[in-house]
Amino acid sequence: MSQQFAKTTQYPAPCTQAPRILILGCGGQVGWELQRALAPLGEVIALDFDSTDYCGDFSQPEAVAATVRAIRPDVIVNSAAHTAVDKAESEPDLARLLNATTPGAVAQVAAEIGALLVHYSTDYVFDGCGAAPRDETAPTGPLSVYGQTKLEGEQLIQQSGCRHLILRTSWVYAARGGNFAKTMLRLAGEREQLSIIADQIGAPTGADLLADVSAHAVKQYLGTRHAAAGSYPFGLYHCVAAGETNWYDYAQFVFAQARALGVELKVREVSAIPTSAYPTPARRPLNSRLDTRKLQAAFGLTLPDWKAGVARMLREHLGR
Ligand SMILES: NC(=O)c1ccc[n+]([C@@H]2O[C@H](COP(=O)([O-])OP(=O)(O)OC[C@H]3O[C@@H](n4cnc5c(N)ncnc54)[C@H](OP(=O)(O)O)[C@@H]3O)[C@@H](O)[C@H]2O)c1
Repeated sequence: MSQQFAKTTQYPAPCTQAPRILILGCGGQVGWELQRALAPLGEVIALDFDSTDYCGDFSQPEAVAATVRAIRPDVIVNSAAHTAVDKAESEPDLARLLNATTPGAVAQVAAEIGALLVHYSTDYVFDGCGAAPRDETAPTGPLSVYGQTKLEGEQLIQQSGCRHLILRTSWVYAARGGNFAKTMLRLAGEREQLSIIADQIGAPTGADLLADVSAHAVKQYLGTRHAAAGSYPFGLYHCVAAGETNWYDYAQFVFAQARALGVELKVREVSAIPTSAYPTPARRPLNSRLDTRKLQAAFGLTLPDWKAGVARMLREHLGR
């Protein structure tokens, strides 16, 4: 019995130096959740555009590259981006700096120091024609400055030769930060009538889910990096919650959940409208369906239905 006990207590030697993980854009929806999800995996250094110890301002590519060189992390997770899709149409230079040039500069340093770079991209790299879910091999065709600059960011990272994971996602929400669900909830409390687009199809995806998937992939990387980094599934992946909806049905789901939680809403009439009835500076894809089978197979994950995460976020946001 005692021999058996002795055998089972032979653990590997404890890790003497915790891996160093750098989060860029830590104050955004995904960045905030990354701080939680990555905390148990190593020494986390989290920077935003206004950090003081190091430069995390993506409008300064050389300074952000110098930050990465100085910190010398094992893993870099970048959630900083120019995400104001309509505003990007009138400030393409800034959008390109934040979404492409600086991620490219970070990727160059990641290649130099042998770090893994985890980066997020978007369904807006596609033109949205057809009705089938797109996989990672589907041709891109962005309709907006945001989509074009995010695609350029992907390409610069791929060309840098660094170890990378690029997760394309869609319709991100979180209890913290601005997003469609929270905007609809506010408007439904203020107005009796709302018109909501019903012909754009996609999957609302929680920042918490993205952070947890990222942490899972980072943990797997840290476990294999010395032994067999060659077997790690680096690359480009689609990462969205399961199921699909349109903005109109998504909003109706949010209103029903809020009412079920006892929230009084002023809205009485909700109309479904086509994209053509609501012109915006940036064109958006009608079909944002992303096929996630590659990610689920490579990392042994099951992506949950979008409704469960939205319902949970609403309870948190509403404090119910
Ligand atoms: N949101 C979506 O629906 C969506 C959909 C598909 C893909 N994605 C991608 O997912 C990733 C995370 O998005 P998210 O929803 O977390 O976006 P988010 O909440 O807008 O966060 C973006 C972060 O970047 C920061 N930022 C802005 N300007 C910066 C600068 N000059 N230097 C450094 N940081 C700067 C923002 O700071 P401030 O908040 O202070 O401006 C914020 O912390 C991004 O790569 C995005 O493209 C998002």
